[in-house]
Amino acid sequence: MKSIMRFLSIIIILNFTTLTIAKDELRTRSNRYYNVVDLGAKPNSNIDSSNGLKAAWEMACASTGRSTIFIPQGRYLIRSALKYSGKECKSSGINFVIKGTIVAPTDFHILGNLKTWVSFEYVDGVTITGGVFDGQGAGLWACKRSRKGGCPRGISTLGFANSKNVEINGVTSLNSQLFHIVINGCKDVKVQGVRVIAPSDSPNTDGIHVQLSSGVTILNSRIATGDDCISIGSGTTSLWIEEIKCGPGHGISIGSLAKTLNEAGVQNITVKTATFTNTQNGVRIKSWGRPSNGYVRNVLFQHLTMVNAQNPIVIDQNYCPRHKGCPGQDSGVRISSVTYKDIHGSSATPIAIKLDCSSKYPCSGIKMEDIHLTHKNEASLSTCANTAGSSFGVIQPKSCL
Ligand SMILES: *[C@@H]1O[C@H](CO)[C@@H](O)[C@H](O)[C@H]1NC(C)=O
Repeated sequence: MKSIMRFLSIIIILNFTTLTIAKDELRTRSNRYYNVVDLGAKPNSNIDSSNGLKAAWEMACASTGRSTIFIPQGRYLIRSALKYSGKECKSSGINFVIKGTIVAPTDFHILGNLKTWVSFEYVDGVTITGGVFDGQGAGLWACKRSRKGGCPRGISTLGFANSKNVEINGVTSLNSQLFHIVINGCKDVKVQGVRVIAPSDSPNTDGIHVQLSSGVTILNSRIATGDDCISIGSGTTSLWIEEIKCGPGHGISIGSLAKTLNEAGVQNITVKTATFTNTQNGVRIKSWGRPSNGYVRNVLFQHLTMVNAQNPIVIDQNYCPRHKGCPGQDSGVRISSVTYKDIHGSSATPIAIKLDCSSKYPCSGIKMEDIHLTHKNEASLSTCANTAGSSFGVIQPKSCL
């Protein structure tokens, strides 16, 4: 009996070894395909799949050529912040193909003080296709809304930093604790067919935030959230946004700027063909009322539809919540060459256009063309302060320029 057992176990060990060798051979030969389930990820369980997702990255990163990391259908609990660095990568690009859902723990304390849940830095040529990222933010929002204190800041869901040639395709971000998608210090990023979903009262859940980046394109995406649908921070240049459905949310916002005295400028921004439904704002440029050497120039807002947006067109250079930290209330941010063209629909408040610029550095080169915004089916109003520019075609409300 004993010898039979030994004989059997030897066979099993032998088989196992040949199997492993075969797999390794396959890997070095094709060098390309990593299924996270083969690497220890456990779908539909309470087991943390972080290690499986880390192992897949390490292997893809170490292999030359392009690799694919495959996350099959199912729910994968990720209890740690995944940091994918491309610094030491040999690969010429890594594709994530995601059929499954990445799920954060419901206990928001586990991740709530960390910065980004799934972050990429120094990567070149990463694409993410499909998948749902479920940030499980509800508990944290409730904590924040209760105003009892002791709530962590929250973790952003998906972030790219100091990276280039990135594509995010058909990804869904659900109930992020904080920002859903952050693009920071990147070059040439294409975001396409993305869905962002969070309730209108979820605090600081910006949909897509871009800063210090150039050549970012955001196309064909639907964003419903509790803060800005898209927020554009300092140092953003050559940003193209097209075919966006925003709402609920706070609209598409350049700012807040003038956070610091030395701040990179924002220029060459295009927002084209977007619908804002029941949003707090449509398109907004916002800066703190304080010194800064930042600027905003060459911005085009075109073919926009407002459906009951509270403030369809806004420039607010006197942002100073709780009247703290804004000496003199004059913003140093210089705003010039901003065009609003073919913008129509309804405003939820009587004032559809509000341009409130810095008294020290008035806005210049503001252009309005073919604007038609009503309030309760009647004419709406516009107000201007420290604003110079011109208008063309039919402007309703009557131009204050
Ligand atoms: C402005 O941005 C677009 C992309 O949005 C780019 O194609 C174009 O070259 C940029 N223009 C300048 C002058 O940088």
